[in-house]
Amino acid sequence: MKKIAVFSSGGDSPGMNACIRAVVRTGIYHGLEVFGIYRGYEGMIEGEIKKMQSHSVSNIVQRGGTILKSARSMEFKTYEGRKKAFEHLHALEIEGLVAIGGDGTFTGAKIFFEEFGIPTVGCPGTIDNDLFGTDFTIGFDTAVNTALDAIDKIRDTAASHDRVFFVEVMGRDAGFIAIESGIGGGAEFVLVPETKTDLDQIVSSLKNLRKSKSSSIIVVAEGDELGSAEQIMKLVKEKINDPSKDFKVTTLGHIQRGGKPTAKDRVLASRCGMAAVEGLIQGRTNCMAGIIHGEVVYTSFENSVGKPKPLLPDYLKLINLLSI
Ligand code: F6P
Repeated sequence: MKKIAVFSSGGDSPGMNACIRAVVRTGIYHGLEVFGIYRGYEGMIEGEIKKMQSHSVSNIVQRGGTILKSARSMEFKTYEGRKKAFEHLHALEIEGLVAIGGDGTFTGAKIFFEEFGIPTVGCPGTIDNDLFGTDFTIGFDTAVNTALDAIDKIRDTAASHDRVFFVEVMGRDAGFIAIESGIGGGAEFVLVPETKTDLDQIVSSLKNLRKSKSSSIIVVAEGDELGSAEQIMKLVKEKINDPSKDFKVTTLGHIQRGGKPTAKDRVLASRCGMAAVEGLIQGRTNCMAGIIHGEVVYTSFENSVGKPKPLLPDYLKLINLLSI
């Protein structure tokens, strides 16, 4: 293998730049030519591919976002789109890919390899932490700390005004951000897509909160089956039916996707980037380089995307136990 390319795809996450830097510099260290593909699969289809040098990735390790930009490509879901992408890679003699992204990115890479034989090793780039085969994904730690910082601030004002706050965090299918920011922020309840939300239990607990506890924080993952934080707040408010109780909603949204990556995310991203390139050199494909218990582990795309990553049961217990 002489030429490889790296791209970021799907929702961006803090630490993607540190990962790109590690891929480029590890590739150069091993004597490879490294190319950067802009805007994920979209740029692969359009041929937006540039040769990267060591200096192309200078001064980015601390920056959020991704210098290669990112996109969610509909065209890559079609055979014609993937064929165009292959033709651009073939013209540049690119023989291997490092894909930084999540489930959609890896699903696309797997089909692409089956059809056109270009091997891909993935790096887990998503704030949601919902990939099997790595303890943490790149960007998760930063997103949790961003959410936590917001929850701390909301708690100040919630306490001053004796209010009940519903704080919506990201997590379309997974409650990792909600659980960790909820535990760290001392939330009274955390509602996640993985478990059934019991509205009656929330209502009765809110009614029975000890007298000294006049404010509460309820963290809601955006994918909760009862709906958004706004919708759940309305249901709870209706059932409590007490005009003296004041309910508010804050949706944190994309603020969780930006910002300087934490040290944990930079190190994770650098390790995964190096492991992905070395995996390609060793002849690996269709797998994600992750870190489990401190060690690099390669997990097939099939498992990293297909196998559910469960929330730790003691996390859920902690929320109930600490909120009395
Ligand atoms: O996939 C990561 C994620 O942050 C989800 O939690 C969220 O639902 C989604 O991205 C939002 O994506 P977009 O920026 O494309 O709306």
